[in-house]
Amino acid sequence: MPLETTANIWHNGELIPWEKAQIHVMSHVVHYGSSVFEGIRCYAQDNGAGVFRLTEHMQRLIHSAKIYRMPLPYNLEQLNEAVVELIEANGVTPCYIRPIAFRGYGEIGVNPLKSPVEVYIANFPWGKYVAGHGGADVCISSWNRLAPNTMPSLAKAGANYMNSQLIRMEADVNGYVEGIALDTNGYLSEGSGENLFIVRNGVLYTTPLANSVLNGITRDSILVLARQLGIPVVEQALPRELLYICDEAFFTGTAAEVTHLRSVDRIVIGDGSMGPVTSALHKAFFDIVSGASADKYNWLTPVKVRETVTA
Ligand SMILES: Cc1ncc(COP(=O)(O)O)c(C=O)c1O
Repeated sequence: MPLETTANIWHNGELIPWEKAQIHVMSHVVHYGSSVFEGIRCYAQDNGAGVFRLTEHMQRLIHSAKIYRMPLPYNLEQLNEAVVELIEANGVTPCYIRPIAFRGYGEIGVNPLKSPVEVYIANFPWGKYVAGHGGADVCISSWNRLAPNTMPSLAKAGANYMNSQLIRMEADVNGYVEGIALDTNGYLSEGSGENLFIVRNGVLYTTPLANSVLNGITRDSILVLARQLGIPVVEQALPRELLYICDEAFFTGTAAEVTHLRSVDRIVIGDGSMGPVTSALHKAFFDIVSGASADKYNWLTPVKVRETVTA
């Protein structure tokens, strides 16, 4: 999908014009994939706008950088403030926010430790991520998710998304909107950019962190909301075929939000429509982010914006 630009990008503590946010082709990240990043949404509400779980996202960025021994020159509070400053300067909501830290220019060779760390934050309008009106038709990928102790799944690192790209491209060329990868033991893992939930006999299942998944912040939010709604929640390794015989299934993610799955490998899930448990969780999630219900978990960071666009 085409990128919509905004006026400013935050770079190492300053706002710079969008078109000036450029890097050298010999930067370490271009050759060796040495980046960590986040994806965050800012939602428009009747009386303003709110960034969803900003602190948790920035904490995950800090943790991703820590795993890769990448010293970030900004702390959690400074990163949070940078996001608010940027959105207010660009003045457009709803929007998607993309903080990224990477190894920059100056050294050649795999070892990143002497390459400078650059931090950028961009924001831009972005709408629906997983296509499909009335539910997503997805497949099981022939590609596995990252094996344990190879690429760390808990780091949201740019290089992990080469695996995601294989999953996503394969789905695309075969006529599906997304692929779900198994882990290297053959258990369900996640989509190329989404966590996976399954509902069976009123119980909500999701794959645990040990099955090579990102510790999704939307995933966590859905687990919190499910417990609030009294829905039993189980995190356990799940076999592929459970997807074919479950009552409901859905993806979660900052980009995907809560997207129900209509079919997997052309096998229709339930009757194909969004089931009651998914609907209840979808509603609870969107009620909070839209401001329709109280933000009882303090998930929204308020921002002041001049303009609301339809993304
Ligand atoms: C591989 C992968 N899994 C899961 C998710 C969902 O995570 P979150 O809900 O924090 O966006 C994402 C998106 O960031 C992702 O890229």
